[in-house]
Amino acid sequence: MTDKVTAPKIRAMKKRGERIVSVTAYDATFGAMADEAGVDLILVGDSVGNVMLGYDTTVPVTLDQIVHHTKATRAGVSRALLVADLPFGSYQVSTAQAMESAICLMKAGADAVKLEGNYSEAIKAMVRAGIPVMGHVGMTPQSVNKFGGFRVQGRGEAADQVVDDAKAIDDAGVFSMVLELVPAELAKVISAEVGAPTIGIGAGPECDGQIQVLHDVLGLSPKVHKHAKRYVSGHECLVDGLRQYSEEVRSSAFPEEKHSF
Ligand code: KIV
Repeated sequence: MTDKVTAPKIRAMKKRGERIVSVTAYDATFGAMADEAGVDLILVGDSVGNVMLGYDTTVPVTLDQIVHHTKATRAGVSRALLVADLPFGSYQVSTAQAMESAICLMKAGADAVKLEGNYSEAIKAMVRAGIPVMGHVGMTPQSVNKFGGFRVQGRGEAADQVVDDAKAIDDAGVFSMVLELVPAELAKVISAEVGAPTIGIGAGPECDGQIQVLHDVLGLSPKVHKHAKRYVSGHECLVDGLRQYSEEVRSSAFPEEKHSF
C-alpha cells in the first residue's frame, strides 16, 4: 500500500462505492500505526484538546497546538491523506483569517484542512488557492456552548438546517464532509444528495465513510461512547504493562543481565 491517498482519490471512492476509512491521530507514533493499518484519511483533530490535553471541550485549542501536532503526525504518515483541523477562533473572523490559518497548517505538512459549519466563502477561497477542504456539519463540537452540550443534531424540523449546511459546503467545493451525531436516516438523505463523500461519526451506516477518534477505537479511555466501538482494550492493556514494569523494578527482576552493558 504505497500509493499516496489524495483528496481527488477520496472523492473518487464515493463514485466507486468504496467505503472511506478515517481515524484521528496526533503524533508520529500513532499516525504511523494508522498508516500501516491502511487507513485512508488521518485527521489531526482538535479533539486533541479532549483526548490528549485534558480539556473539557475543543474550544481552548489553538492554531499553534494544531501546527505542533500536524508536524508530529506528518513525520509518521506517508500514504494516508493527512487532514489538519482548523481550531475554534482560527477561521470565524474573516475569509482572510481563515486563509492565513489554512496556509499555516499546509506549511506544517497537512494535505488538506477541515473546518466546522457553513463558511462557504472561506471554503471557496481555500479551494481557489489550491487547499483541499473537508467540511463538518451536524454536531460541530466548537459550537458546544451554542448547542448546550454534545447532543444529536438535526432531529425533526432541525433536519433542514443540516441539509442546507451540507449542500452549501458541497457547492463551495469541499472534497468530503464529516457528519457528526445526526440521525442515520438524515445522514442517508444527505449522502445521496451531495457530491462530496460523507464521513460519519455517530451518523449511521449509510455514510460514504466513517471516522472515529483514535482513543475510542483503541480503548485508550475507560469511557465508551454510544457511537464508538473499542477494537482493543488499550487502557487495560497499557496499565497492565506499566504495572508489570513497576513490579519488576521493585523486585529487581528488571533490568536483567541482557539489558545491561
Ligand atoms: O476533532 C475531531 O476529532 C473531529 C472528529 C470527531 C471528526 O472533528
